[in-house]
Amino acid sequence: MEYRELGSLGVSVIGLGTLRAFDVTEESELETRRQIIENCISEKINFIDSAAMYGASEKAVGVTTEGKRDQFYLATKVRIEGKEAGEQQIAQSFENFDTDYIDLLQIHNLIDYETHLPTLERLKDEGKIGMIGVTAMVPDAYPTIMDLMRSGRIDTVQIPYNVVQREVEEGVLPLAEALGIGIMVMEPLKKGRYVKELKGEPDLSPLKEFGIQTWAQALLSWVVSDSRVSITIPATSRPERITENALSGSLGALPQELRDYVREETVRLL
Ligand SMILES: NC(=O)c1ccc[n+]([C@@H]2O[C@H](COP(=O)([O-])OP(=O)(O)OC[C@H]3O[C@@H](n4cnc5c(N)ncnc54)[C@H](OP(=O)(O)O)[C@@H]3O)[C@@H](O)[C@H]2O)c1
Repeated sequence: MEYRELGSLGVSVIGLGTLRAFDVTEESELETRRQIIENCISEKINFIDSAAMYGASEKAVGVTTEGKRDQFYLATKVRIEGKEAGEQQIAQSFENFDTDYIDLLQIHNLIDYETHLPTLERLKDEGKIGMIGVTAMVPDAYPTIMDLMRSGRIDTVQIPYNVVQREVEEGVLPLAEALGIGIMVMEPLKKGRYVKELKGEPDLSPLKEFGIQTWAQALLSWVVSDSRVSITIPATSRPERITENALSGSLGALPQELRDYVREETVRLL
């Protein structure tokens, strides 16, 4: 597994997302997530992203990483309007994770970011959180994101970047590289659609020599082949996919012609 800098942390370039996949409460479902966490440890995945708005996900992360917390960096997000409501939501995140320290606290989709930034700066000064981040899903938000990057108030940015959504190549990624800001990539598989909903079977033969055996691996390799990306965080509810996805973190950068091939083959089958 390759490790890269995400702000002040050394993170596995393939991490774990938890949207939908960890929104579970039944013991049998939690047991499957425990296996996911075990497989992350075996595959040297050391970073988990959650959010206050992901239903039971934070709590499921807290329960399934119990006793193994030293193996993972934890990230979550605040998403609510108002100072007190934000403080309450953040306090709940600490409780859900069952921790007194969160490595990265992000402002979800920039919701009320001007209110939450001073709260997060105070928590960072108090040593309760390690880093401050923001997330954004739409290119309309990128000018604000870039202003925040230049302000020196944030350590990380979470954005979508995949074979189809490439807007960040223009401004966000070059600026992050220049300023040393960590880039976390959400939706590398477009919520699984670029694997599960293609019109036909992608032709993997040009990629086999590179060690790629599945289309999910091709898509993840496409993302992390950009060295400006610190980490991507595919979510899954299936333990065996941790091993499958982790492989893309140890293959190195795809040669440009193979990267182009992965993009063209996906677009052809959309
Ligand atoms: N605004 C924000 O801040 C924001 C927005 C979106 C996402 N995020 C973060 O980014 C993370 C990733 O995004 P996402 O979960 O929406 O999308 P994603 O990671 O692109 O796709 C997840 C889906 O892909 C499937 N999948 C995973 N590995 C696979 C494989 N090897 N083969 C086939 N299917 C596979 C999973 O289904 P199975 O369960 O069947 O494996 C899951 O449904 C989220 O979990 C969240 O932490 C943040």
